Amino acid sequence: TSSNIGEQGAEFIVVANRLPVDLERLPDGSQRWKHSPGGLVSALEPFLRSRSGAWVGWPGVADVAVDPFEEEGLLLHPVALTNDEVRDYYEGFSNATLWPLYHDVVAPPVFDRSWWDVYVRVNRRFADACAKVAAEGATVWVQDYQLQLVPAMLREQRPDLRIGFFLHIPFPPVELFMQLPWRTEIVRGLLGADLVGFHRPGGAQNFLWLARRLVGLEPSRGAVGVRTRPGVVQVGDRTVRVGAFPISIDSAGLDALARRKDVQQRARQIRADLGHPEKILLGVDRLDYTKGIDVRLNALHELLAENRVDPTKVAMVQLATPSRERVEHYKQMRGDIEQIVGRINGEFGRVGNPVVHYLHQSVDRKELAAFMSAADVMVVTPVRDGMNLVCKEYVACRYDLGGALVLSEFAGAASELTSAFLVNPHDLDGVKNALHAALTVDPAEGRRRMRALRRQVLTHDVDRWARSFLEALGSQPVL
Ligand code: ADP
Ligand code: F6P
Repeated sequence: TSSNIGEQGAEFIVVANRLPVDLERLPDGSQRWKHSPGGLVSALEPFLRSRSGAWVGWPGVADVAVDPFEEEGLLLHPVALTNDEVRDYYEGFSNATLWPLYHDVVAPPVFDRSWWDVYVRVNRRFADACAKVAAEGATVWVQDYQLQLVPAMLREQRPDLRIGFFLHIPFPPVELFMQLPWRTEIVRGLLGADLVGFHRPGGAQNFLWLARRLVGLEPSRGAVGVRTRPGVVQVGDRTVRVGAFPISIDSAGLDALARRKDVQQRARQIRADLGHPEKILLGVDRLDYTKGIDVRLNALHELLAENRVDPTKVAMVQLATPSRERVEHYKQMRGDIEQIVGRINGEFGRVGNPVVHYLHQSVDRKELAAFMSAADVMVVTPVRDGMNLVCKEYVACRYDLGGALVLSEFAGAASELTSAFLVNPHDLDGVKNALHAALTVDPAEGRRRMRALRRQVLTHDVDRWARSFLEALGSQPVL
């Protein structure tokens, strides 16, 4: 059938912590759905919408029970979380234990036994929801670090299903993973899948090593390739594959959006609103301590202080989506960043012309494309990032071959976007030099770099990512 929504259940299901839409409660007591934050939704939503799938996830607010509903061809199955579960499973174990641990312990992970219990309980609820909506022999694609126990829990109930798992964040070096008190449970949870996918071959290799060390299995020893040569490990009578599948964006869609007259008009308007600076720098991130927003601001501050950048000629825009605002490290970091912005503007701004324009807000796709079209230098400096989609979005917007990309070596995207100005975010002098080089790059050299970047991004889009993963999973969903 062309639709996979029927009495027999869904043939193809994505399960993620969040639904692609978030329930928003307005002050007048009414509510509406809005686009969810983050790269997972940006990547998967356009792919799934064009294919009528089902999506199991949390509606983004505590203590609401919402019936399944259909939205533009997608069947959404909300999973309810209580306020305590949001605190212990989402803010606690997912974002104060796993998130910092998997991002190279850039903040110290908190190991709390009661959070773990809630993580297990909530993972079981997601697995139960999938077991209920999946048709006989369906494909279930489990997403990200919040749901690492779901593959094994689901397999126990529904051995008929084909189960894939993809991790959207980095998988850490084994020495760091070994700190986790529940390391064996997590590895066993993931081994419930038929295919476990990571962004980079290194992540896959680390996972294979842990399957040997912690579970006593005998994984293959050959090098894992990008989209090819997955590792293999036998788990009882099942063969589990472990591979690398770098995620991407709807490149053609963003390219087309950026070419629109109204978007280009808006880009000119942004430039005018900023006072027609010679150069515009842009940062776009969730407000997260892994993103290195402080790194780029500190670099700009020093460049201004050393007169290498003229504050009357350069403006920086930082768009920062609010994120995980009740988690301690996020609160602290927000304060730090707002202080640096204040310091730069206090020292180098003029009335009506601050140097840094900081918005703690989310903007829509069209506005994002306009900002990216207006920006001469896109600054992406995470201290660790699984992939980072923002840099790919910038490249997709630059059909004019204008603009320059400064990109951290510690983003997964750096191994694909080798024509960017690559930087080590821990080396502040290096970041300053790269910013300066990008601001002053010769136009022909800039175009040469952007042409190479676009070749990569336009030929490796999210559709290719999803197809390569699902092919390796051996599933035939409604594609
Ligand atoms: P993460 O998944 O860690 O948030 P990614 O770079 O992979 O990081 O994805 C972030 C996504 O969120 C991108 O699609 C980006 O365009 C979007 N985004 C980030 N900040 C904003 C913002 N302030 N306004 C609108 N979109 C944003
Ligand atoms: O991959 C990173 C990720 O954590 C996604 O799982 C998530 O949807 C996104 O970032 C946004 O984070 P959150 O859902 O915690 O707001």
